[in-house]
Amino acid sequence: MSSENTLLITGANRGIGLEYVRQYAESGWRVIACCRDPESASVLNQLANKFSCIEICKLDVADFDQIEMLGRKLIDQPIHLLINNAGVYPESSFRSIDYARWMDAFKVNTMSSLKLAEVFIPHLVKAGNAKFVAMTSKMGSIEDNSSGGEYLYRTSKTALNMVMKSLSVDLTKYGVAVAALHPGWVKTDMGGPNGLIDSETSVAGLRKVIALLSLNNSGKFYAYDGKEIPW
Ligand SMILES: NC(=O)c1ccc[n+]([C@@H]2O[C@H](COP(=O)([O-])OP(=O)(O)OC[C@H]3O[C@@H](n4cnc5c(N)ncnc54)[C@H](OP(=O)(O)O)[C@@H]3O)[C@@H](O)[C@H]2O)c1
Repeated sequence: MSSENTLLITGANRGIGLEYVRQYAESGWRVIACCRDPESASVLNQLANKFSCIEICKLDVADFDQIEMLGRKLIDQPIHLLINNAGVYPESSFRSIDYARWMDAFKVNTMSSLKLAEVFIPHLVKAGNAKFVAMTSKMGSIEDNSSGGEYLYRTSKTALNMVMKSLSVDLTKYGVAVAALHPGWVKTDMGGPNGLIDSETSVAGLRKVIALLSLNNSGKFYAYDGKEIPW
């Protein structure tokens, strides 16, 4: 890909999202780094001071009006890669389910990807050969679930996987390739200190997977190491 490529990423202020920004900016991409509260995103602001190719935009992915407003603000801009990385992990176990939090998790982890695809399809089409990916989790794999529990997180990611599968079919006619990506168990605020890999390793692997994504392998569930995960 050329140095004129543009990435739009959500949840860019910390964790895996921040590392995506750092690596793509270092590789010469223009990066539209979205986060809920740009003013308090100190590390992201430091990165943007270092790399002039980073533009920070305010976006809460659970606020669909904000997604539409951002789409309008960026209307003339081609987007070659959109990564919906923002996510929440509300802990949950049988007989102590917070049903209101479940709804909130669905908005962030599941529905935001479809809303982003609907709003940003013109920007992706404008770029040509564009890619739309979401950060999902192996915990959303039905086949892989042997430990149970974690109903809120698991179901929101399983449903996200289905959104991405349907999008892969629907976006073929727009020439947009789609994938659901698992980052591994990563040492971040969400993954905790016992994670198996750091963000740098995860994102380096994910970027390779994204680079290989095309309409020929669209609609799959990949881990950061390129292995396919059963749905
Ligand atoms: N870490 C892992 O081991 C692991 C494993 C599997 C999948 N994943 C997935 O990978 C993605 C990134 O995870 P991470 O480990 O980097 O998590 P993290 O350290 O907890 O960071 C989560 C990011 O999502 C943002 N976010 C949450 N709700 C948002 C909203 N409504 N609108 C916009 N941004 C929002 C957060 O912003 P604020 O700072 O504003 O809260 C933060 O930037 C998530 O989708 C997660 O489910 C992670």
